[in-house]
Amino acid sequence: MSDSYALEMRQITKRFPGTLANDRVDFTAREGEIHALLGENGAGKSTLMNVLTGLYHPDEGEIYINGRRFRFNSPGDAIAAGVGMVHQHFMLVPNQTVAENVILGLRDVPFRLNGRRIEENVQAISEQYGLPIDPRAKIWQLSVGEQQRVEIIKVLYRGAQILILDEPTAVLTPQETQGFFATLDEMRRQGKTIIFISHKLDEVLSIADRITVLRHGANVATVDAAGMTKPELASLMVGRPVLFHIDKPECKPGEPRLLLDGISALDNKGLTALNRLSLTVRSGEIVGVAGVAGNGQRELAEVICGLRATTGGVIDIGQNNVADAPPIVVINAGVAYVPEDRGAVGTAPNLSVAENMALKAYRKPPIGSGLFMDRRLMREQAAELIKRFDISTPGPLTPVRKLSGGNLQKVILAREISSNPRVIIAAYPTRGLDIGATENVRNILVDERSNGTAILLISEDLDEIFALSDRIAVLYEGEVAGVVPGEQADRDAVGLMMAGETPEAETAPAVTTPHTEAAPS
Ligand SMILES: Nc1ncnc2c1ncn2[C@@H]1O[C@H](COP(=O)(O)OP(=O)(O)OP(=O)(O)O)[C@@H](O)[C@H]1O
Ligand SMILES: [Mg+2]
Repeated sequence: MSDSYALEMRQITKRFPGTLANDRVDFTAREGEIHALLGENGAGKSTLMNVLTGLYHPDEGEIYINGRRFRFNSPGDAIAAGVGMVHQHFMLVPNQTVAENVILGLRDVPFRLNGRRIEENVQAISEQYGLPIDPRAKIWQLSVGEQQRVEIIKVLYRGAQILILDEPTAVLTPQETQGFFATLDEMRRQGKTIIFISHKLDEVLSIADRITVLRHGANVATVDAAGMTKPELASLMVGRPVLFHIDKPECKPGEPRLLLDGISALDNKGLTALNRLSLTVRSGEIVGVAGVAGNGQRELAEVICGLRATTGGVIDIGQNNVADAPPIVVINAGVAYVPEDRGAVGTAPNLSVAENMALKAYRKPPIGSGLFMDRRLMREQAAELIKRFDISTPGPLTPVRKLSGGNLQKVILAREISSNPRVIIAAYPTRGLDIGATENVRNILVDERSNGTAILLISEDLDEIFALSDRIAVLYEGEVAGVVPGEQADRDAVGLMMAGETPEAETAPAVTTPHTEAAPS
């Protein structure tokens, strides 16, 4: 056995009914190394890491830490051996504070360790690793990026030497990602071993020391990051060369389908999140919302969908003002919503893929009529969607909690898009999807738009915004700082507006303020 590795996993095999999730995987990581783990949705990345953290028991294989063999029967065993994981779906208690969450589940919190001491300890870790957080804030008040910091602090608090981060940057803005990478660097400097799962190849190439690629559960390569290229990684993952391509026919906008007029709303902390925001989305167009996260994106999506109260303004979706109407009214008016938080808002974990797909349709014919549901039809439609969205699942009757993160995301997209909506609010629709699935979803959104659906696309990925949008609205401090046509949009000008600056006239000829935006006819 080798003792030069901080971690060595040998010939790990993990089967689920109908699925070989890990197929004799060898995986090693060194002290002071950032090791990226790549692979398509469902390739087995999370499963391998869940084996490492004692959540799953491998059917075969061995785990060595610093040369010593371990058999984990629970996450507690792994933590005791210095292995900690930040999961793809956070596991925090919303009503409790940051500090309370950090000590939650700890086996031996000294009986007298008082709240204040814990807060101080949390504060110390937060400063040491550059993870700014208020230990007394309640989880529900925090942004997704802040919640992630709590999860990382939780793992560090337990003294982890090996940290596993499952798609940590999927939920971060580019700015937050920079801060997060500084934290990773600091951990590396302090000799921690970091296993980093990501679908973002540029990031992986910039931060990782080594890279392991899984395909269909097997390790197809472990390489040094230096000298690798994006296309090389992509073809290792997919097993063939990947083209990054979107076919986007000309935009032929029709009648306005979503009109926001002077909308204001508060965020969870009671501060102004939307400030008299006005925006129009017409049939047959994609309006991209660009902006640094935290400038009102989340609240914008929520007020439209009836999930957040407004403090002023009007929302028109083809009928009277629906501001503050309950979600069911908005749904019935033909609005589909792909939410930011898939776990809590998006799906019912114990229901099957087919049931989750029918969650919106069950009240309506043909699936629902009166008290009865046509289960056979539901299954058939699910099977079709599974095919169209290339969802990897043993079948339509599998509970969605057994799906990989990316495939869960596809279930939500399939449900929302198949509801034949007039308007789609898509918040970060390709987050967590692998490169192939991302391409597929983008093409589906463009198809929907070309068929006349009005699409509001919220994304922090500027490449995505530029690739898909017919018009781009830049959000800054809850206001639309400007709207530019997607075609000739000037990236620098958009970047400046995102930072709250006004681009000079000659660099951004196409900028209009929301008030001068051509009245849709
Ligand atoms: N608890 C479970 N029960 C049954 N099958 C499971 C379970 N967890 C994972 N699987 C299956 O194992 C395979 C690997 O899933 P895993 O979550 O490891 O993929 P992943 O590489 O993390 O994908 P993603 O990028 O989408 O997160 C998938 O086919 C998935 O459906
Ligand atoms: Mg995963």
